Amino acid sequence: MTNPSAEKPQLLVLRPLMPAQMEQLEADFILHRYDEAEDPQALLASVAPAIRGVVTAGGLGFKRDMLSQLPALEIVSSSAVGTDSIDLVACAERGVHVTNTPDVLNDDVADLGIGLILSAFRRLGPGHDYVRSGEWSRSGMMPLATSLTGKRLGVVGLGRIGLELAQRAQALKMQIVYTGRNRKNVAYEFYDSVIELARNSDVLVLTCPGGADTRHLINAAVLDAMRPDAWLINLSRGSVVDEDALIDALQRKAIGGAGLDVFENEPHIDTRFYELDNVLLYPHHASGTVETRSAMSQLVVDNLKAHFQGKPLISPV
Ligand code: GLV
Repeated sequence: MTNPSAEKPQLLVLRPLMPAQMEQLEADFILHRYDEAEDPQALLASVAPAIRGVVTAGGLGFKRDMLSQLPALEIVSSSAVGTDSIDLVACAERGVHVTNTPDVLNDDVADLGIGLILSAFRRLGPGHDYVRSGEWSRSGMMPLATSLTGKRLGVVGLGRIGLELAQRAQALKMQIVYTGRNRKNVAYEFYDSVIELARNSDVLVLTCPGGADTRHLINAAVLDAMRPDAWLINLSRGSVVDEDALIDALQRKAIGGAGLDVFENEPHIDTRFYELDNVLLYPHHASGTVETRSAMSQLVVDNLKAHFQGKPLISPV
């Protein structure tokens, strides 16, 4: 009797998907749980020749070293839009397909951006503390906050997420300005340098891709160009910001503050951030809702199924 599972493609799971999508994978593939293995290297050594697909996610990505141990690998499917942690060059050299999860997370990431901007300008955290600590009943009205209406939102990288954010900010009656590799067919004012954009923004929001091309794009010179009350909001990657320069600017109160979803060394972030009162810190969770993580997981499953059924990939990188 033939073993029906013998025909199923074998996958190495570096990071799990949502439970419903793990069940779907279990039905159609043989899974090797690197993520759960007591000795992941031993698991890898024992199953490597049979692995045809890898399931991964943003932080971990997929590196050349692991690729070199997987001679039969055909596809890496990542549950993230960012591909900076995946060695795309190594995968291309070997003809290994890579898929990511664009679009399905745009709304949630843009919402988080608006949340950070509103929290910063309307001082939601300090307001909460003001009530709960009893300060309101002792001292009366808390200090005035800052209005968003009419303020200039400078978007660095007006891609899919940046556009969603801009639309939301327009609904809040902000003015949108932007920079990026290319001028887009939009009514927003374009600056061809990030320094000029910084000079002309009340909020500078980063929605560009991470990776070598944008490493430390936001450096001391850009931070110096920002207005003293302007906020930096990072929804992109920690690598885009020179964190030493940012912490220095925040300590000197040279800018209004920073709302950060991402950091250079996540999750072990620079502890100097903990000492600052002009930051809003969020644990790289802009797409972290049940709905969006389920949609991202489903896209991973659908890409893998498409590949092994010989159909076109849904979201190839
Ligand atoms: C999140 O950071 C992603 O790349 O999806």
